[in-house]
Amino acid sequence: MIKKLLGGTALFFLASSAFANDCEVTVESNDAMQFNTSNVTIPTSCSEFTVTLKHTGQLPKQSMGHNWVMTTKADSQAVATDGMSAGLDNNYVKPNDERVIGATEIIGGGEQTSTTFSVEGLNKDEEYMFFCSFPGHIGIMKGTVTLSS
Ligand code: CO
Repeated sequence: MIKKLLGGTALFFLASSAFANDCEVTVESNDAMQFNTSNVTIPTSCSEFTVTLKHTGQLPKQSMGHNWVMTTKADSQAVATDGMSAGLDNNYVKPNDERVIGATEIIGGGEQTSTTFSVEGLNKDEEYMFFCSFPGHIGIMKGTVTLSS
């Protein structure tokens, strides 16, 4: 559907940036409580997928910390709520939370981190999301995860 809406130039831009390396992606976050993308595409041809998260701001993780957490859309709010209770020492993710598909640690300005997780258990009929589980951030810092074949 997107292809029908975009011209050739836009498609080339997408192809050369977002999908340059199919089994990994870099997502940026900042001091304005934003991710630089609202969608991450995971090819089902990948056995594993790696997300690298960069924090391009300057604020410390105690006040403007960010992580990248992937769950089903249905689980996202509950995982974020439980993560808030788990606290910064647990990177705002409940330990051993089986609803979490992938999650990085919490980082502050100038830092970067990554997470690698298995793609094989993911279901094309399911809806997935990513978000930051730092308290209060999921309202703005969230996006969809799309599986593509
Ligand atoms: Co955040």
